[in-house]
Amino acid sequence: MLKVINSIQEWKQIKARQLINQTIGFVPTMGNLHVGHLSLCKKSASENDVTVMSIYVNPTQFNDRNDLQKYPRTLEMDLTLLRETKFVDYCLILTDEEVYADDYVYQVSELYLSQMMEGIFRPGHFTGMLTVVLKLLLGVAPNRAYFGEKDYQQYRLIDGMKKAFFLDCDIIACPTVREESGLPFSSRNNRLSVEEKQKANVFSSIFLKKYQSCEEILQQLQQENIGVDYCQEIEGRRFIAVRIGDIRLLDNYPLEV
Ligand code: PAJ
Repeated sequence: MLKVINSIQEWKQIKARQLINQTIGFVPTMGNLHVGHLSLCKKSASENDVTVMSIYVNPTQFNDRNDLQKYPRTLEMDLTLLRETKFVDYCLILTDEEVYADDYVYQVSELYLSQMMEGIFRPGHFTGMLTVVLKLLLGVAPNRAYFGEKDYQQYRLIDGMKKAFFLDCDIIACPTVREESGLPFSSRNNRLSVEEKQKANVFSSIFLKKYQSCEEILQQLQQENIGVDYCQEIEGRRFIAVRIGDIRLLDNYPLEV
């Protein structure tokens, strides 16, 4: 039975009283759940005694107010999905008041990887993201935490933070789950109009042809009138961010065969 928890304090009490000696897997999310999120929960459920998900739309990682306001909030639907799928035992729903009781005067920033790609186009995003993830990892204190490769730069930054601060939790990367067209599932896909969705599918079909250069990909996207923020290769992986309408879509994959 899914149990909904409304504060870190409440979770800490449950953990101390009821979950002694149990391994805990943690899946942090911003809600509006889809099968990508569920794949993380499934993996956690297969590797831990207990799985905890957090749902919290973290304001400090939105550099664009409009994006924060429009972010889909679908709590009742999310809880129904969690009850149906049964991978998650506890759902932690947090408030800005609790998470940012310090008024965001304490922050975690990274000075290397966070300055590239998404970091260039979304100033402050990674500091907000790392800060909330550190708060969540310390508050929940799981044995393992699960993150999607869809946001690979995010995953690498979190894994780096774990090592830098000796965090006592394994950071586990999970493969990107894609729609039939190849487009990665994303909460932002729901905001695409029918024509924009078609364009997004075209974007994926172009990007997923691995055996071409970034230049060739850029050329084809240009022909389709798809705006590209970046397409670049770092450490054997190819990353891309495009704009379709006012929605940004990300993708990446490893280049080795
Ligand atoms: P959110 O976008 O809700 O994503 C939660 C987790 O689901 C992230 O680890 C993300 O990489 C993963 N995910 C999203 N779409 C996926 C897909 N198609 N396949 C596999 N995994 C997918 O990422 C965040 O929230 C936030 O930045 C958060 C880490 C919760 C901090 O606020």
